[in-house]
Amino acid sequence: MEKKTLTIDYSEYGSLDELPAEERKLMECAMRATAGAYAPYSGFHVGAAVLLADGSVVTGNNQENIAYPSGMCAERVALFSASAQRPKEAIVALAVVGWNKGEYCEASPCGACRQTMAEYEMRSGNKMKVYCYAAGGRIRCIEGVEKLIPFGFEAKL
Ligand code: THU
Repeated sequence: MEKKTLTIDYSEYGSLDELPAEERKLMECAMRATAGAYAPYSGFHVGAAVLLADGSVVTGNNQENIAYPSGMCAERVALFSASAQRPKEAIVALAVVGWNKGEYCEASPCGACRQTMAEYEMRSGNKMKVYCYAAGGRIRCIEGVEKLIPFGFEAKL
């Protein structure tokens, strides 16, 4: 038996203003997208924005349902919409933010969204950067989905 350790590196920006212009715009798109969330059950609004290789941006927000599991997270709404509209464009970056009790707040993709992100990385062969709005208005950036879902599901079918 051998004990092994996994370390994950990421960067953190002090505020939105520290982000490079394109990434800042992407996070601002995610922030605006929170307004379209349909979250009457949790009250927690999430906005996501996906930047594609051709420079276009596709947004999404959480869509809840009275039959709870039938709802969908903001990230997957954005990812599925991007892939449906521009299937050949690699996803370069994804930004995600929460909105609760009148202010923007931390949001980090759930496990199912991470697995979905991994699928699109595998499809395009292009690592995506993931920007998460974090406590105190800081922005966390993780390069490559493998760091978010180590040992994620893979299969040779
Ligand atoms: N939610 C997202 O939109 N993204 C995530 O990564 C996790 C959770 C949504 C689902 C639900 O509508 C609300 O946040 C509260 O869980």
